[in-house]
Amino acid sequence: MDRYAILGQPVAHSLSPRIHALFAEQTSATIEYLAIETAPDALAGTLSRLHAEAYAGLNLTLPHKIAAVLLCESLSERAQVAGSVNTLVRTHSGWHGDNTDGVGLIRDLRQNLGLNLTGQRILLLGAGGAARGVLLPLLAEDPAELVIAGRTPWKPEALAAEFKSHHAVRPCTFLALKGDCFDLVINATSAGHSGAVPALPPNVFKPNALAYDLSYGKAAAPFLSRAEVLDAARMFDGLGMLVEQAAAAFALWRGVKPETARVLAALRG
Ligand code: ATR
Repeated sequence: MDRYAILGQPVAHSLSPRIHALFAEQTSATIEYLAIETAPDALAGTLSRLHAEAYAGLNLTLPHKIAAVLLCESLSERAQVAGSVNTLVRTHSGWHGDNTDGVGLIRDLRQNLGLNLTGQRILLLGAGGAARGVLLPLLAEDPAELVIAGRTPWKPEALAAEFKSHHAVRPCTFLALKGDCFDLVINATSAGHSGAVPALPPNVFKPNALAYDLSYGKAAAPFLSRAEVLDAARMFDGLGMLVEQAAAAFALWRGVKPETARVLAALRG
């Protein structure tokens, strides 16, 4: 039986064990998938131990996605660009780090929500690790413009500078957004985890615009409620992205891409 785990702190609330159990059932695989509470100073030791114990793959969640980059033996190109890893694949001599968050978001937006991002105006709120992880996959969809907004100009400017070969990226502060409007507004800040919401000006949502929070459940509620007040046409949390990034990880580990629609429906139910 192949063994897998998700490492995080806190991790008890994680839906990943349930999602992977459903994927395993669907693909007639017998796997074990544990949630292992891991403090930051225990990450290196835990990764070594699980490698020695022949775990086949791992997922990483807060607060380990960036720290784990330095603990991988090799990295995929998209993990290098994102500067963070959410999926580790066992190799003979260590862990290969990958990042399926970006592809998970794009699959949710395109396949589950039926969005075509080409030529659209996208606003990305936040310029931390979560924003960095989804930036390149979003640009690959060829939007008309992608604005990265933050509380201060510094982080958006630094992030936009890294992607300056894509002329469609523009940094901005929340305050300077006044008068701008978008087809899609993605919340990649961590504000919702403390019940806060980025300070958005009115009219930021175009008619028929969609609001999307990379978090799910309670952490997504403050932004999605604000989006409703600001007349977003549709509001979604990141549960679909969670399922899609998990499916991409499962495919990396086991060479089989599980079907996601039923799993997402089961979780929403
Ligand atoms: P993550 O890896 O989850 O992205 P992070 O790298 O700490 O975490 O980045 C969090 C992002 O959320 C940052 O852009 C942060 O803004 P600052 O750089 O100004 O700190 C943003 N953020 C956190 N709390 C926020 C709040 N209450 N309102 C707006 N933005 C917030």
